[in-house]
Amino acid sequence: MTDNFDVKLVENAKYYTPDAEYKRTSWIGDYQKTYEKFLSDPDAFWSKIARELEWIRPWDQIREWKYPYARWFLNAQLNITANCLDRHVAGDRRNKVALIWRGEDGKERVYSYQRLLGEVMRFANGLKSLGVKKGDCVCIYMPMVPEQLIAMLACARIGAVHSVVFAGFGTTALNMRINDAEAKVIITADISIRRGKAIPLITIVKEAIDNAPSVEHIVMYRRRKEPPVELRPGREHDFYGLMEGVPADCPAEVMDAEDPLFILYTSGSTGTPKGVVHTCGGYMVGTYYTTKTVFDLKERDIYWCTADPGWITGHSYIVYGPLAVGATVFITEITPDYPDPGSWWKLIEEQQISVFYTAPTAIRTFMKLGEEWPDRYNIGSLRIIGSVGEPLNPEAFEWYYRVIGKSRCPIVDTWWQTETGMQIITTMVGEPMRPGFAGKAIPGVEVDVVNKDGKPVPPGSGGFLVIKKPWPSMLRMVYKNDERYRTYWETIKGCYTAGDLAVKGKDGYIMVIGRADDIIIVSGHNIGTAEVESALVSHHAVAEAAVIGKPDAIKGNAIKAFVILRLGNKASEKLTQDLMYHVRITIGPIAVPHEIEYVDKLPKTRSGKIMRRVLKAKELGMDPGDISTLDE
Ligand code: WTA
Repeated sequence: MTDNFDVKLVENAKYYTPDAEYKRTSWIGDYQKTYEKFLSDPDAFWSKIARELEWIRPWDQIREWKYPYARWFLNAQLNITANCLDRHVAGDRRNKVALIWRGEDGKERVYSYQRLLGEVMRFANGLKSLGVKKGDCVCIYMPMVPEQLIAMLACARIGAVHSVVFAGFGTTALNMRINDAEAKVIITADISIRRGKAIPLITIVKEAIDNAPSVEHIVMYRRRKEPPVELRPGREHDFYGLMEGVPADCPAEVMDAEDPLFILYTSGSTGTPKGVVHTCGGYMVGTYYTTKTVFDLKERDIYWCTADPGWITGHSYIVYGPLAVGATVFITEITPDYPDPGSWWKLIEEQQISVFYTAPTAIRTFMKLGEEWPDRYNIGSLRIIGSVGEPLNPEAFEWYYRVIGKSRCPIVDTWWQTETGMQIITTMVGEPMRPGFAGKAIPGVEVDVVNKDGKPVPPGSGGFLVIKKPWPSMLRMVYKNDERYRTYWETIKGCYTAGDLAVKGKDGYIMVIGRADDIIIVSGHNIGTAEVESALVSHHAVAEAAVIGKPDAIKGNAIKAFVILRLGNKASEKLTQDLMYHVRITIGPIAVPHEIEYVDKLPKTRSGKIMRRVLKAKELGMDPGDISTLDE
């Protein structure tokens, strides 16, 4: 299955050993000892971590496992915002900076923990005034501004379930997500700003709710005065208008540990995305613990994760984890290439960022642009640098380590998923690192690489990456689709199948290779082949479409589409542009094929299933493997 990995690369990868000081002062302590402690008593391990947080009522039992359903912190009560905000305000962090935001125009906004709590409570009361109650779903479709985080936290404050949709998604994708979750309210902004250009989010929202009967209210954060967007009274509300005249205080709703906190949609192997549901208690404990230990966050750190809260990385490692820890979080809408390729390094120098978390696709882009850009700035404040989203290839690791980390900062290459809620595999700070290898299981979880019968593969070989036992922040369900939930635990009996292929080194380090299914990871974003195909066939000129991922030096993968046209349509450059535009407005820019090829036939099985594997092998000039099921 994974014979496409380079054995030499695995065996020859050298070790990078960080300065002993990192290990001596790390929260995790000695990795091996901590891991053994966890194994000897998993419940005691998690209970000790959970007790660092505040609960309204303690749990009766740490976990219950009725395969394939798990519950954690049984009968415990809490509110995650009480831990992310009130806990710090009541303690020593009242005046500590919680959030620093930087806009493209240079505007900066700074929130102390006290101020952030105040904003969250007032917006929460605003939502209540619209009739939003515990258990209601609220869709958040916003650019990267503080209001996006305030909206998320305000939902959590009153027990509303948020569904954040990345603002790069198009009309159809947004509509599908609103309808699946039956969102009552949608929170948006007039525009988002990217590379000096304004994208009218409110227009997309208005199109997307055309056919969304559950939506009762729209709340819009106004970013520009001209031209003004008219709001219809009664149904459409101004973000800050909603906060006027409401009480300043909003007590945190009492939530059961297993009450849902949010839904987040992720691509799957079918055309419809999966609504991954996370719950309050376990998710809080898992993200708090990993933020603290994987980034080894200390009181003085200034932390920057370059993701958007529209993805799981933003949920767990911009909002809930770092705020639960009481960190100072920097966020910005500035892209790495605007106004010039030095923008992020300039920000690191200005903000004195000490912990930096980004994606391999960004690192590879910087490599191409050259060292002169980071070299123009003093980025010596960096202490720990991280990576997430796709494999960090050895060349990118070495560049990141040397040029950004100044051959001094540990790199935490973190493997995890929307479904896992928290990081699962990494090389903990202080441990020797191996380029190409994410590392080992974080204390608290058990992982392995197995064959399709669930048997562990011998060291030095490849197979499927699995998680062997439930963990606190695992998904509890796929919204309204139990079958898709069960698939995670039933594909390989008894364990959670991540859908990734991996190699286990002789030292137990794990190298993640890529997806084993029909998901393509483009610039770190999951895109289902079926989703792109169905967007293509929804165009009037297209009869059939098949989509594959092709290796790309910067993006990791690029999307190539094979298209059969309906009779009467002719292939042309204009049609290609039309199809690309069609995918852009249907799903969003991230899903636009990089290449479209017009064909007369697609390889199919006798039962009519498209064999993407055959297309891919042909495209890459590789052996297509077993084609006995291929229809002539
Ligand atoms: C991939 C993102 C290799 C993997 C947090 C996984 C990675 C999918 C890594 C989940 C990594 C994520 N090394 N591959 N460090 N991190 N992946 O749900 O294929 O957006 O299954 O969660 O990204 O993507 P998702």
